[in-house]
Formats: sequence, C-alpha cells, structure tokens
Amino acid sequence: MFAEAKTFCDYVWQTVCLRVRKVWNIMKLIAAVDNHWAIGYKGQLLVSIRADQINFKKHTINNTVILGRKTLDTFPNGLPLPQRRNIILSAKKDYKVKNAEVVHSVDELLELVKDVNDDELFVIGGESIYRQLLPYCHEAIITKIDYVYQADAFVPNLDEDEDWECVEESEEMTCFDISFKYCKYIRKSAQKAE
Ligand SMILES: NC(=O)c1ccc[n+]([C@@H]2O[C@H](COP(=O)([O-])OP(=O)(O)OC[C@H]3O[C@@H](n4cnc5c(N)ncnc54)[C@H](OP(=O)(O)O)[C@@H]3O)[C@@H](O)[C@H]2O)c1
Repeated sequence: MFAEAKTFCDYVWQTVCLRVRKVWNIMKLIAAVDNHWAIGYKGQLLVSIRADQINFKKHTINNTVILGRKTLDTFPNGLPLPQRRNIILSAKKDYKVKNAEVVHSVDELLELVKDVNDDELFVIGGESIYRQLLPYCHEAIITKIDYVYQADAFVPNLDEDEDWECVEESEEMTCFDISFKYCKYIRKSAQKAE
C-alpha cells in the first residue's frame, strides 16, 4: 500500500486510514436474536438453545470476551466465563470481579485491547454493549431464532443496515420446537479498507 504513496500527503493519509481501520474493525459481535432482533427480556436471555451454547463456546473459547456488568450478573453465580479472558464494562469505580478485568469506559477498553488480534475479541452483550461496540466490529455471528418473543432488549437489525452483509448462512436447525440458523455478517466497508 505504501509503495503506491506518491507524496508525503499520500503517505500521511494512508497511515491515518490504516490507523482508523485498526481502531474501528477490531472486534466480532456474537448474539442470538429473534425475528425482531430481540435479545433479552427482564435481564435474561429469551431462550437457551443447547446447540447455540456449544456454538458460542466454539467461537469464544481461549479468546477474549467483552461484556456489560448486567450480562455478567446473569451468568451462573455471576462468574466470568471459564477458559476465556473476560473484560467487563462497569461505570462503578470500585467494582471488582475475580478472574476478570474491569474497564470503566469504551476508551479504556480500546486501550486495553489495542494489541489483541482482530479475530480473538468477541463482544458478547448485552444491549448497551452491543450498541456501543458495533461501530468497532467487522464481523457479527448471529444466531437467528425463528420466533417473536416478548422482549425489552434488542440489537440493531443488520439486515436493515446497508453496511452489513450476510455472507454465510447455515441450514435451518431445530431444538425441540425452536427453529434457528447461524448467519455470519461482515461489514462491507471493513472489507474495502483492506
Ligand atoms: N441474546 C443474546 O445473545 C444476549 C447476550 C448477552 C446479553 N443478552 C441480554 O441483554 C440484556 C442485558 O443488556 P443491558 O443493556 O441491560 O445490560 P449490559 O449491556 O449487559 O450491561 C449494562 C451495564 O454495563 C455497564 N456499561 C455499559 N456501558 C458502559 C460504558 N460505556 N462504560 C462503563 N460501563 C458501561 C454499566 O454497568 P454499571 O451499571 O455497573 O455501571 C451498565 O449498567 C439481558 O436481557 C441479557 O440477557 C442477550
């Protein structure tokens, strides 16, 4: 890329572009949504699908997960996920979690993860964290559950965002009476910036 820089201004511009790409396309989002892109109700998941839990573990194991304090509270005994580096967002300055790192702002998070490989950083919820970190994601792994649940937590509908494109879709699967499939979305502008 730099070989194509003809002037010092080109060089500076290309350096800025690379830095922006590094800062903005560093994470993957992983979530399970219903037909309205709902993800939760009254602080809990909408539904638990065993196969989806296994898929979630397959993607995140040995990697770094980023989550909000309220989502951590929903985990068994409020404990971080094992075999993963857990980074929790909380505004409470004295909040501490055993076997996890706590950050107090998105800026602090970005500083902490700046050297982590793009493919190893997973945003795992909940709603407020998905919304704040979606701009930093280049890929989204979405479990689409074919149902409409009563819900009060949502993620942005990537099918309605022209910067996002579903590039891979699994077969429809069933768990008891629940139908679901996996969709991999990529941010188109992230690909162009390569
Ligand atoms: N379907 C799925 O895939 C999925 C996955 C995960 C979660 N969920 C669902 O999502 C819902 C929870 O979402 P939520 O939005 O209520 O909670 P959340 O995003 O999990 O956590 C919110 C908390 O994170 C902290 N926080 C958020 N932004 C921050 C920032 N910029 N700086 C510092 N701290 C920050 C604050 O903690 P403090 O209050 O401690 O300051 C805030 O109260 C639940 O229903 C859960 O089951 C669904």
